[in-house]
Amino acid sequence: NKVQLCIDRDFTISKVDERIYGSFIEHLGRAVYEGIYQPGNKFADKNGYRKDVMKLIKEIGVPIVRYPGGNFVSAFNWEDSVGPKKDRPRRLELAWGVVETNQFGLDEFMDWCKKVGTKPMYAINLGTRGIDDARNVVEYCNIKSGTKYSDMRIKNGAKDPYNIKLWCLGNEMDGPWQMGHLTAEEYGLKAGRAGHIMKLVDPTIETVACGSSSLYMDTFGNWERIVLENSYDTTDYLSLHTYYGNAEDDTPNFLASSVAMDQFIGQVISICDYVKAVKRSKKTINLSFDEWNVWYHSNDQKVEKWSEHPHQLEDIYNFEDALLVGSMLITLLRHADRVKIACLAQLVNVIAPIMTSDTGAWRQTIFYPYMQASVYGRGEVLNTVVKVPTYESKHGDAPYVDSVVLCDEENETLTIFAVNKDLEDDYELTCDLRQFAGYKVVEHSMLTHKDLKAVNTEKKPDNVKPVDFTKASKVEKGILTSTLPAKSWNVIRLA
Ligand code: AHR
Repeated sequence: NKVQLCIDRDFTISKVDERIYGSFIEHLGRAVYEGIYQPGNKFADKNGYRKDVMKLIKEIGVPIVRYPGGNFVSAFNWEDSVGPKKDRPRRLELAWGVVETNQFGLDEFMDWCKKVGTKPMYAINLGTRGIDDARNVVEYCNIKSGTKYSDMRIKNGAKDPYNIKLWCLGNEMDGPWQMGHLTAEEYGLKAGRAGHIMKLVDPTIETVACGSSSLYMDTFGNWERIVLENSYDTTDYLSLHTYYGNAEDDTPNFLASSVAMDQFIGQVISICDYVKAVKRSKKTINLSFDEWNVWYHSNDQKVEKWSEHPHQLEDIYNFEDALLVGSMLITLLRHADRVKIACLAQLVNVIAPIMTSDTGAWRQTIFYPYMQASVYGRGEVLNTVVKVPTYESKHGDAPYVDSVVLCDEENETLTIFAVNKDLEDDYELTCDLRQFAGYKVVEHSMLTHKDLKAVNTEKKPDNVKPVDFTKASKVEKGILTSTLPAKSWNVIRLA
């Protein structure tokens, strides 16, 4: 079995926007409490931030973190989460049926972002609240001093403005489950007005309007069109969300989900461009895929009503999930001209690559493709012609091998990410490197496991992890040849 990649140095899709490797922390389950924040824990610093978790986040190099929700944000009052901790209210958290203590909030998040080396992507409540609160929180965060909310921030200990650049205008407002759910017209108008007033406070910010919660929403398509028709001038990005699962234990179809993701992205681009055409606008709306992942293992997890940060949505990821996450990353990269932001949902404990217990933190299987893509997936995405056999799936024809090639001119490197979805057979990958004379294989890292359902646990954290496979790649007479083992994620780096 063969896969052939045809590349040309001058045929590029786009430079990768590093924000494509973003992630997401919601006030949900143990993402914040016991995840990134656990005062008194032996790994916590003096602020209560878990240092072991910070180390793993730094290993990935997460460039942006979306916060504080998610469904949570749609009934959240940001003022509850600032000021002296003893005065912060305990609230019924209605999205997930728990109690929110507000002991970690906006100010702590901003401080934590600085310490972990990431940037905030802050979501506002457009469910139970409206444009007045939207302008207030931008004032709190981004105005230097001398006004009610900027002085409130200073009083709370933050002298310098936070200068949050990226703002989500609510969350999944198309979903009937969303608190304050709206029709497309209602939401489009509200998002347009919120973006307008927020940009009056700080014209340098960028806004993300809610697209559909998935490709399978009944309102998909019309939702995007109507929202943009009503908010085009003040919106910069439109969001997409998707989660896949393998409850039917049908691995070929599960691994073909990246085809559905690819179609979803293509269709949303078409709608953005349709509205651009109708409006005769010069402005292009780009995409923020700000929730994506595998999510289904924890569906039956029960939660005690009104408990505090219980175990919730704690998917334990297996090896085949890592393959799909790799394919989804490849899909995002292949759309780097329009997908400028993406957030793996989520980052710690809740459907996450990083898990914690009181005694440590460890990497789930999906950690590895995410980390390797973030670390090595920089530069220009090449417009690669891929010759590869396909198989029939419920999403349409799926290639046996998903792949993408990146060229970093500055550092003179070429990087190939490839997932072989064939469960039985290896693939031989070839790529003519005629324009990359002298390039040699630096490393071929490969992730596979004999058991598709293998997982990493606290006791066995290294059960599924990449191995050095450099022996399987060589350049001869200007042609790269690599072996992609059956069911594997591969990172091939040349320089
Ligand atoms: O990420 C978990 C949840 O999935 C988020 O709160 C919501 O936006 C989505 O439905």
